[in-house]
Amino acid sequence: MTVTIVGAQLGDEGKGGMVDRWSETADVVCRYQGGDNAGHTVVYDDRATDGGATTADATDAGDENTEYKLSLVPSGAIRGKTGVLGNGCVINPATLFDEIEGLRERGLDPDVRVAERAHVIFPYHRALDGIEEDSKDDHIGTTGNGIGPTYEDKAARRGVRIGDLLDADVLRDRLEGLVPQKRAICESVYGVDPDAFDGAFDVDELFAEYRSYGERLATNDMPVNCGAFLDAHRERGDRLLFEGAQGTAIDLDHGNYPYVTSSNPTAGGAATGTGLGPTVVGSGEIVGIVKAYLSRVGAGPLPTEMGFVEGQTPAGGGNRDMTDLAAHIREAGGEYGTVTGRPRRIAWLDMPMLRHAARASGFTGLAINHVDTLAGIEEIRVGHAYDLAGETVTTMPATTERWSECEPQYRTFDGWSDADWDAVAREGYDALPANARTYVEYVGDELDVPIFAIGVGPDREQTIVLDDPF
Ligand code: GDP
Ligand code: IMO
Ligand code: MG
Repeated sequence: MTVTIVGAQLGDEGKGGMVDRWSETADVVCRYQGGDNAGHTVVYDDRATDGGATTADATDAGDENTEYKLSLVPSGAIRGKTGVLGNGCVINPATLFDEIEGLRERGLDPDVRVAERAHVIFPYHRALDGIEEDSKDDHIGTTGNGIGPTYEDKAARRGVRIGDLLDADVLRDRLEGLVPQKRAICESVYGVDPDAFDGAFDVDELFAEYRSYGERLATNDMPVNCGAFLDAHRERGDRLLFEGAQGTAIDLDHGNYPYVTSSNPTAGGAATGTGLGPTVVGSGEIVGIVKAYLSRVGAGPLPTEMGFVEGQTPAGGGNRDMTDLAAHIREAGGEYGTVTGRPRRIAWLDMPMLRHAARASGFTGLAINHVDTLAGIEEIRVGHAYDLAGETVTTMPATTERWSECEPQYRTFDGWSDADWDAVAREGYDALPANARTYVEYVGDELDVPIFAIGVGPDREQTIVLDDPF
């Protein structure tokens, strides 16, 4: 049995929290794409749970809450489940080992495996990510972590894979071919001195550092043939949870190109990114994670945007009349980038985006988060459809230019008051304010997908569970 978790919007929908929730019943949790551009948050109240492996060194999210922010280690590792970084991921070993070390310092002992077929992010990828962004008038607003340049090398068949770090001769050979090319691009295309990047373009330094990662991976028995490893677990009846990063509207194929990431967060990515077939993924549940409004980090259009964020909202975009409301939601929902700390842009829920997401991934269930964050707002809007050149359209146009011309056709919903969300989560769906029920039911009905869970707070327990996808 498999469950695939997919971001239905623009990332940061609360995937980490839901993965944590459902990894209670999973045996293995596998990330299938992306890298350390992701930031997945897991929060739990130490009084309410034993916190999985241990509750040692509980800190930083309030008096009783423990909070973990994970970029690479699959969120299920917090519960002591085996975590796998699939072949569809791009891996910065420095981040990976730092993160594992950080978890160890907090008393956890994460079991993390890494696909030999996954591609490796090198310092020159990170440098080039920044150089390429700086050279553009129209920034994407990437995380700067080298994600695009690494997937670029993968597609160009010149990348270095985790398996290559395990063999000194192969690694040296690859670097000796690659690094001079990267230096030439730096110098000749961008007019930038590669030696200004602290060894990022130096074969010997890179070889020494990355060979030592290879040895560390091997010593800790971390490299796996991902598809075969997962299949062996499946054969013995284990439950597999596939953790997507990012979201549908920033998917390389299905997002609003070019303001996208360079991988496939949609459910098809779970097949190519794990080495198990589409029939395996498709015979399980595919859960779309939805935020009750929208947030976006980085550039690109956002038709239902409230307010604006300097440096991210495109010229002419946003709605300056709603700046205060956007700021309120940003504060109430903690909408600052987990990786970059950037303030996130805030927008009303966009149904054409969700219809597109439900189709692209074939959602069989939904989790709707942040219903608590909207509490206290008198009138809540939803972009039900778009007006595009005088016509009503109900799904996202395929080009970014057309999408940016879309004027939302809003529906309004009566808001709901703040509540004791712990009690609501405990008591279940009927305890949810009636207007909030109307709102989430509208979303489920429009997409014709059942709702499995409703998030009413960041904590593991602040979830109304209607159905367990396992
Ligand atoms: P991810 O990238 O999809 O895993 O999401 P992030 O962790 O980047 O961002 C989601 C943020 O919202 C985190 O701070 C979560 O703790 C928080 N969060 C998740 N679900 C809820 C919810 O239902 N209500 C509130 N208030 N916060 C939530
Ligand atoms: P999680 O998994 C939100 C955005 C970046 C930028 C674009 C491309 O936490 O939901 P990249 O560094 O990937 O080349 O940047 O994609 N982006 C995300 N936005 N959540 C994420 O991950 C994101 N990962 C990348 O801000 O606009
Ligand atoms: Mg995130």
